[in-house]
Amino acid sequence: MKKLKIGVIGCGGIANQKHFPAFKANEELNEIVAFCDVIEERAVQAAKDFGTEDARIYTDYKELLADTEVEVVHICTPNVSHSFIAVDAFKAKKHVYCEKPMSHNTEEAQKMIDAWKASGMKFTVGYQNRFREEVLNLHEACSKGELGDIYYGKAHAVRRRGVPTWGVFPDKSQQGGGPLIDIGTHALDITLWCMNNYDVDSVSGSVYYKLGHLPQATEGNLFGPWDTKNFEVEDSAMGFIKMKDGATIHLEASWALNMLESREASTTLCGTLSGAEIHSGMSYDKNELIYNRGRNGQLMEESLSKIGGVAYFGGGGGAEGIADNRQWLEAIINDTEPLVKPEEAFVVTKILDSIYRSAEENKELKF
Ligand SMILES: NC(=O)c1ccc[n+]([C@@H]2O[C@H](COP(=O)([O-])OP(=O)(O)OC[C@H]3O[C@@H](n4cnc5c(N)ncnc54)[C@H](O)[C@@H]3O)[C@@H](O)[C@H]2O)c1
Repeated sequence: MKKLKIGVIGCGGIANQKHFPAFKANEELNEIVAFCDVIEERAVQAAKDFGTEDARIYTDYKELLADTEVEVVHICTPNVSHSFIAVDAFKAKKHVYCEKPMSHNTEEAQKMIDAWKASGMKFTVGYQNRFREEVLNLHEACSKGELGDIYYGKAHAVRRRGVPTWGVFPDKSQQGGGPLIDIGTHALDITLWCMNNYDVDSVSGSVYYKLGHLPQATEGNLFGPWDTKNFEVEDSAMGFIKMKDGATIHLEASWALNMLESREASTTLCGTLSGAEIHSGMSYDKNELIYNRGRNGQLMEESLSKIGGVAYFGGGGGAEGIADNRQWLEAIINDTEPLVKPEEAFVVTKILDSIYRSAEENKELKF
């Protein structure tokens, strides 16, 4: 079978942790022929480790897009660059896998959707947590109606102390925000996808800048003390999302919060027939899915247990990145839809953006 020709833009953390190993694991479907990073040695190293013999190195993403051999582009750069790179990639008639979040605000995400629709190419976003076994199991249960009418959900993205100390994470001009946009995005994606409810009515939010500047708050941070002087983004954020059918979702996101439970890329769903909770994150030594309901006069719990951690955090992950990568490449080869649909990722970005705006304007926003 002909292998898809891949170009990767941004050869930093997630490219090395997720994309390159996943491409390697699925090597019968692809080969990476071009690497781009503004820090040239990163692209050179990645090409040496994961590229074809004649892989090209670029420091300007536009040159990679002009490379006619490249069919599929993976965007693994900071959030604020996702939109302009993706728009240019669609104009250059490439298929695009963009890292999460789709973009840092609604306007930029809309440009990506418009460019994608005009291009006729395939587009997906990096929500690999959907491919975890407990998430797939919960999604199937919800699809079959096993929970009944799901009218309350909680999207958990709480780190007690897990402020990233590498890359540009605390830089608002590069990332657009902090934990809400960084990890809130995964928890919200899982919650919306399992509820299969994207009809948002209104959003309100609170965004906190309480601990990021406090040197004493850095004690015990998983990645060591962060730079409190250059910390520009929020350290925690809460959102309340009302859906058109009356369902509500409470979203909690933090890199630093004085709360015991560190629960991430996780959801709680409450339905009329039963409830379900996913437990994953630093407070848990294994990922769990626990269904709950009443039966034979008593309250029952039923678990699906699996050893692991949240993908690419806390030592876990890997398999879901490979599964995500495979289904994406197969969607291109077989001309089918990828599992993570651009319209779904767009709603996630629009909700997160609305939480920031609601907090700024101190009011509920109609969607
Ligand atoms: N799916 C996940 O679970 C997950 C996990 C971590 C990060 N991410 C996402 O991946 C993206 C990158 O995060 P990271 O942790 O890899 O950051 P990083 O800083 O480690 O890597 C980003 C790389 O992009 C390069 N770069 C920046 N601007 C560029 C440009 N215009 N052209 C070419 N290269 C450029 C940087 O030099 C750097 O090497 C972010 O959007 C982040 O949200 C996703």
